[in-house]
Amino acid sequence: MKKIKVLSIFGTRPEAIKMAPVIKKLKDHPQTESFVCVTGQHREMLSQVLDLFHIVPDINLDIMKEKQTISYITTAALEGLDQAIGKIKPDIVLVHGDTTTTFAGALAAFYHQIPVGHVEAGLRTYNKYSPYPEEMNRKLTGALTDFHFAPTELSKENLLKEGVKEESIFVTGNTVIDAVKMNIEEQYRYEDDALNQLDLSKKIVLLTSHRRENLGEKMRDYFKGIRAALEKYPELFMVYPVHKNPLVMDAAKEAFGDVKNIKLIEPIGVKDCHNLMNHCYFVLTDSGGIQEEASALSKPVLVLRDTTERTEALKEGGVKLAGTTYRSVLDGISMLMEDPVLYDTMKRAKNPYGDGTASEKIVQIITEHFKEKS
Ligand code: UD1
Ligand code: UDP
Repeated sequence: MKKIKVLSIFGTRPEAIKMAPVIKKLKDHPQTESFVCVTGQHREMLSQVLDLFHIVPDINLDIMKEKQTISYITTAALEGLDQAIGKIKPDIVLVHGDTTTTFAGALAAFYHQIPVGHVEAGLRTYNKYSPYPEEMNRKLTGALTDFHFAPTELSKENLLKEGVKEESIFVTGNTVIDAVKMNIEEQYRYEDDALNQLDLSKKIVLLTSHRRENLGEKMRDYFKGIRAALEKYPELFMVYPVHKNPLVMDAAKEAFGDVKNIKLIEPIGVKDCHNLMNHCYFVLTDSGGIQEEASALSKPVLVLRDTTERTEALKEGGVKLAGTTYRSVLDGISMLMEDPVLYDTMKRAKNPYGDGTASEKIVQIITEHFKEKS
């Protein structure tokens, strides 16, 4: 039987992390031929993941520019992906999540009339501008998708409410849990030596923040709240691997440059990141993926956002919205530091994102579909 040609398209760090387990399964499966095209929407932060998981892209469009706009990413990616799809002629295109690469990948596949599989489909906040532009990227991608790989029952329900046919939705769990399981080691030695030097008698907190809708005044304001918490609780020690966006780097240096109990470092490899999360007291983040990973590792998460599309963990109790103001963030951290019952309840919350077999399920669904057709 002819092998099924599967083209995975992605461009940023989180897409790469969450597609890596799927690509591994596609490579190992006797019936599939795996191709990878990266847009290069991210550069260094993408390479870190590709290297760790030994993924060598068949095509790298290398589109990244400093301070790139969303319109630039969309047009550059669409043009390059159009040619890549024309060259590879896949049977199916896989995209992941909610970035501008995701949307451009689905659109390019649609223009070639090639079926689209959307990994991590169906998450919604129902707020067009939060997260921005991710909420609309996800919806627009969904409109072009033939196979919706929903991580949870809730994301399936969201799609059903929008009129998506039930037979095209598959609840698989989130592939990020597969990646976490591949990376956690009990006696872990960090690649970034600064992390091997951490004083473990302190309460270590992982901080990350990069969202477009938070850039500017909002980010500066809640950074002041975090700074106030660091002064109030000297037993805390935060590690902040700063996103390479120059606007984020400037804000982080301005807010924390002279604070003793926080360490600003370059983005770390994902294996370091997962193991650091495993060793920390709680997590403070506006990232999507980190909310899911921390849930899997039983770490309380305070989310530096006004909304989250990861409402499952919110319902289970492991994640709380800390908002985006000085006051709300300082109050959120204070509550977690001063209420041991709350801390314990958050720590014991159930992980709603699956059991680490999502990528296996996705590959099985694809191979069964094409077997039936042949
Ligand atoms: C993008 C996605 C966002 C996702 C995030 C994950 C869009 C519009 N945004 O946001 O959904 O949550 O990735 O991190 O799709 N840069 C570098 N090197 C890198 C990566 C970024 O220098 O390896 C700098 C560049 O100056 C770039 C800027 O960061 O212009 C912003 O990158 P971009 O991909 O546009 O936005 P993110 O905030 O990373
Ligand atoms: N991550 C990483 N190194 C870092 C910070 C984050 O490998 O220095 C990982 C993290 O474990 C998660 C993903 O990057 O898997 C989250 O990416 P990001 O926050 O950039 O994007 P989002 O999830 O918000 O789309």
